[in-house]
Amino acid sequence: MDYKALNATDIKYFENFLNEHQIITDKTSLNKYGRDYTEDLFFEPSAVLIPENVNEISQIMKYCNEHLIPVTPRGSGTGLSGGCLPVKKGIVLSLERFNKILSIDTENYQAIVEPGVINEDLQNKVQAFKMFYPPDPASKGSCTLGGNVAHSSGGPRCVKYGTTRDYVLNLEVVLPNGEIIQTGANVLKNSTGYNLTQLMVGSEGTLGIVTKITLKLLPYPSFNTLLMAAFDSALDACRCVPAILNAGIIPSALEFMDKRGVELSTNSHQIGFDTNQGNAYLLIEVDAFDADYLMPQCEKIYEVLEQHNVKNILIAEDAATKEKFWKIRRSIGEVVKKLSIYKEEDTVVTRGNLPEIYDYINFLSKEYGFDCICYGHAGDGNLHVNILKQNMSDEKWEQELPKAIRLLFEKCKALGGTISGEHGIGLVQKPYLDVVFQPIHFHLMKGIKSIFDPNNILNPDKIFNN
Ligand code: MLT
Ligand code: ZN
Repeated sequence: MDYKALNATDIKYFENFLNEHQIITDKTSLNKYGRDYTEDLFFEPSAVLIPENVNEISQIMKYCNEHLIPVTPRGSGTGLSGGCLPVKKGIVLSLERFNKILSIDTENYQAIVEPGVINEDLQNKVQAFKMFYPPDPASKGSCTLGGNVAHSSGGPRCVKYGTTRDYVLNLEVVLPNGEIIQTGANVLKNSTGYNLTQLMVGSEGTLGIVTKITLKLLPYPSFNTLLMAAFDSALDACRCVPAILNAGIIPSALEFMDKRGVELSTNSHQIGFDTNQGNAYLLIEVDAFDADYLMPQCEKIYEVLEQHNVKNILIAEDAATKEKFWKIRRSIGEVVKKLSIYKEEDTVVTRGNLPEIYDYINFLSKEYGFDCICYGHAGDGNLHVNILKQNMSDEKWEQELPKAIRLLFEKCKALGGTISGEHGIGLVQKPYLDVVFQPIHFHLMKGIKSIFDPNNILNPDKIFNN
């Protein structure tokens, strides 16, 4: 596709309906919009537009569609697959001013939000009404709900409560031609034709610009208990994960951390925690509406842990200890990324196959000589494998490592899984999509893309090459 390079006439057109502060063209400011949290990647946009209402977005899209100017939507840039990087230049459309919680419906347990609202802000806001928005990515303090919708983001609570997708009831979307549509209705049941709402969720900003999100809420479970279990053997920790669920417990979090992840996070944030307790840890939370339900669940979990050679179990007695344990877990990603250039693989397998995939990761790391840190949402079978470049030569990093990653993904597929559980395909996982999709899948997906976006101006070359 031959795109048109953005020029002064285009900027003049945008100046007709956008104010000066809504158009960014200076190099220094553009820099920030050319990166996200993915590796060390940088793609400078030609301009950034910061619309403040849906009609402005509609006008921008209509114009860009007619003039073949690529548009890449962006939340707060915390993505881990390069989804908001403007790889074909053109415009970055920042949703940062779409940051309002429009309504909280306490009767129907729903919230309507704009896509630039920070995940944790919504969680806090609805909690004040004793309501609960469960999806909680590690970056919940900075990631936006629009970005969460784009990737169907997850987080620790998904093991009990599901991912973003399970909470999206309806969307307002601006299509690439500028048309504004509702994808569904603000109801809990909807059996009315194809589910356009769910098609948009996880489409990584390639089909339309989400401008309003109706979310389902739950009653807030006010009580929880948090345990940190240390194991000598990481495989024992992995084996314990399905056993906890098989014992009839659905924890509200069931997270895995290897020793190095815990050490890095603990040292970097000077968290008082003895990191010599084990080679792997499970962070296990149970929640309830009534405190009396917690202890029986914990007793069962203790039993299962003991059957799996647990070495030590710490119970977070107070809010400060809970916060400390969660900080250890939530900081790992960020700390690892400061350590070295890295690649993060978002492997997901059926939960019973965790020991197999963990074992295989170790095998590959020895075979290909890479160093990696594993942590993640064990209860979902979703392990993040952060591969560190450190002193690895550029040649090995670029030529050899992709072979190991491909083998890793092939193993995920063989174990009933896939290549991303919650970070998306975006740019960096694109070369591996053929591990899980056959030509017919690409044909169907490209067909959908071309109906929504026949000129391929919206977030081009993401998920697959157009
Ligand atoms: C996490 O679970 O910590 C997040 O997905 C972020 C990350 O892995 O970097
Ligand atoms: Zn995660």
